[in-house]
Amino acid sequence: MNGTERELKRVFVRTYGCQMNVYDSERITDALESSGYAPVDTPEAADLILLNTCHIREKAAEKVYSEIGRLRRLKDDAGDAGREVLIGVAGCVAQAEGEEIIRRAPAVDLVVGPQSYQRLPDLVSKARAGGRVVETEFAVREKFAALDRPAPRRRERYAAFLTVQEGCDKFCSFCVVPYTRGAEVSRSVAAIAAEARRLAAEGVREVTLLGQNVNAFHGEGPDGRDWGLGRLLFHLAGIPGIDRLRYTTSHPRDMDDALIAAHRDLDVLMPYLHLPVQSGSDRVLAAMNRRHSRADYLRIIERVREARPGMAIAGDFIVGFPGEEEADFADTMRIVEDVGYASAFSFKYSPRPGTPAANRDQLPEPVKTERLARLQEAILASQATFNASRVGMVAEVLFERPGRHPGQIVGRSPWLSPVQVSADAGLIGSIARVAITDVGPNSLFGHVVGKAGLDRPAVEATA
Ligand code: 5AD
Ligand code: SF4
Repeated sequence: MNGTERELKRVFVRTYGCQMNVYDSERITDALESSGYAPVDTPEAADLILLNTCHIREKAAEKVYSEIGRLRRLKDDAGDAGREVLIGVAGCVAQAEGEEIIRRAPAVDLVVGPQSYQRLPDLVSKARAGGRVVETEFAVREKFAALDRPAPRRRERYAAFLTVQEGCDKFCSFCVVPYTRGAEVSRSVAAIAAEARRLAAEGVREVTLLGQNVNAFHGEGPDGRDWGLGRLLFHLAGIPGIDRLRYTTSHPRDMDDALIAAHRDLDVLMPYLHLPVQSGSDRVLAAMNRRHSRADYLRIIERVREARPGMAIAGDFIVGFPGEEEADFADTMRIVEDVGYASAFSFKYSPRPGTPAANRDQLPEPVKTERLARLQEAILASQATFNASRVGMVAEVLFERPGRHPGQIVGRSPWLSPVQVSADAGLIGSIARVAITDVGPNSLFGHVVGKAGLDRPAVEATA
């Protein structure tokens, strides 16, 4: 054993991007903790700094390089003081750029793609022993098997994420995910149920099933056959202690009958659906290789709302896709109105190296900027209308943490919006009925009117 290994080792993980990365960062910390690394909250306190990165848009990827620039100084200062600090890049930038990262940022010691985190303890030891380490293999099955090992969680106490599938086979022409996360792979129902039971035993009340294309889930069921997401949800709904289920993110093509039936039949499945449409124009949808039309999408929303009235719909949009004309954009503006989104994310198209649309003629930046501003205004208006329609309802809220002001606590409504109330902090970790009285730009406000009841729906209108 050399000198460095005898010291107490500390790891700092910074997470960028999606919820899958949040989940993965926890697993990374678990893996390293079992090999003697204590997690710390600041890069200054760490001798291993890992950036769990996102490659979805250029801005997200560029952030990583400016962060490495800052960390390099920290590493140099530590080096001057005789302390060795390693910098590692994990996540989708690692997968997409591999060795290129080290060429561009020589302060980086380790590059590890999302499918190789189970190998981190070894890879870190190798990097410590000297020499740079780059690992970008696709070993997702191995990763899932390693994830199956029960490990205590640290951060999310009452609402937790649970990865059920990774990767995507859809190949939308703008998207890097099929390249950075690879082909679609699902975990087995038994492994997922075991993790959900473990979470319930630790006091988790709400589980959000995660996947890049979560409703394409097709894991092996206890009967040896492939189960879809709908069937999985029915199965998980039977686990005592799991009071709320959610899933994200979905593709319209995979909203099958069983999944819609789950929304109809399962009270524990929250009335919220994140279903990205990306564009309201059939021409642009075809160019994006989305494999659904505007009408297909609207029909799905209609069916879901028939199954579960009052459902909150969230979406994602891309503006300024190559070839998008003003008339196409007008179709996008119209779909915002048609759907009545409870919330939506919107982005300017960002060409990603290696994806088909990156080589097409690009729209001028000012056009993208101007369309994005108009779209975001419409989304905000839609969000405000949705929130206003909640006033006067009684909704079940899972309280998760203290609020910003003393005496306040914050939780999530069934529609995923934050709800702030003045109430005893002892309610944190429980589900209570809240009368919604007011709305802010991003939150609902109300007061507690009672405990959650299993015999009552999660949402009801007051008289
Ligand atoms: N440019 C802009 N936005 C993108 N997204 C995915 N790829 C790109 C890109 N190249 C958006 C989509 C997706 C969300 C996660 O990010 O809207 O649903
Ligand atoms: Fe990317 Fe989603 Fe399309 Fe898959 S379905 S390629 S993850 S946008």
